[in-house]
Amino acid sequence: SSVAAFVAALPKVELHLHLVGSASLDTVLALARHHPDGGVPTDRDELRRFYTFTDFPHFLTVYHRVNLLVTTGADVVTLLDGLAGELATRNVRYAEVQVTPVRNRMAGISYADLAAALADGRTLARERHGVQLGWVFDADATLGPAGAEETVDFAIGHRPEGTVGIGLGGPEVGVHRADFAPAFRRAVAAGLHSVPHAGETVGPDEVWAAVTELRAERIGHGIGAAGDPRLMEHLAEHGIPLEVCPISNLRTAAVPDIAAHPLPTLVAAGVPVTLATDDPGMFHTDLDAEYLICHEAFGMGVPELAEIARTGARAAYCSRELRDEVL
Ligand code: HPA
Ligand code: ZN
Repeated sequence: SSVAAFVAALPKVELHLHLVGSASLDTVLALARHHPDGGVPTDRDELRRFYTFTDFPHFLTVYHRVNLLVTTGADVVTLLDGLAGELATRNVRYAEVQVTPVRNRMAGISYADLAAALADGRTLARERHGVQLGWVFDADATLGPAGAEETVDFAIGHRPEGTVGIGLGGPEVGVHRADFAPAFRRAVAAGLHSVPHAGETVGPDEVWAAVTELRAERIGHGIGAAGDPRLMEHLAEHGIPLEVCPISNLRTAAVPDIAAHPLPTLVAAGVPVTLATDDPGMFHTDLDAEYLICHEAFGMGVPELAEIARTGARAAYCSRELRDEVL
């Protein structure tokens, strides 16, 4: 359709995707064959089925399994090379990549090796693919406040070029955003942007906590905000954008079906919304597909989709030159 052609040609930014979750099927198959005892299928069809998630906790267990296959700095560079290549084919000029350093350390990568791999991968993305990358170092809520402190130690101590923010992923059930306030306070004091996940699988309370306790400047997912008009008003008034990932929400069953997705409610309330893929390799998606599902399911046309792309460019922690090029 003409909308598909418009989206494909549109220069875009992507503000929410995870390093390990971005790995293509081919990349993960190669890693799985290299670590045959890792519990990840080495057959393509089986890997596809492995990426069928019953719910969000199930998704996280699969993600951790794949994470443990990424054991060297060279693996990280391979992931970034593949990711930048995919982004370039979708006309994505700038992306912020969520990297979970404590999980990489648990897979056997030293922090020095990780920092060096990110530097190499970032150069390669720019020079080989014409894609700029920024880093969000995200804590995994599963690992508690101590894991978040270790994440901030890495982000501040190594501060690889392109570091833009501190994040928080993992579960929201049984663990609260507010528990991570001290780590976020330290990161923000060191000049990092606060961009936690919140309201992915739960309601507005955790989004409020992200805003008030973690000083969130942007929020990963945040779709739980749709249940609270006062919160949506707050996000709109303070210009706190949501990185909405509709296909992720379908794959993890965070929403039951696309008709039930709150994106139109958020947009109607004036909340700044941008689109992202979250874990494109695992969710079988790409950024164009996220735009197109909004066209097909919500009737959004070229003007509405262009506004979503501009919202992303305005919310990106990239250079002014790059932002102007995309705007
Ligand atoms: N949410 C929380 N944790 C994650 C995600 C997500 O969308 N992707 C990878 N880890
Ligand atoms: Zn995410």
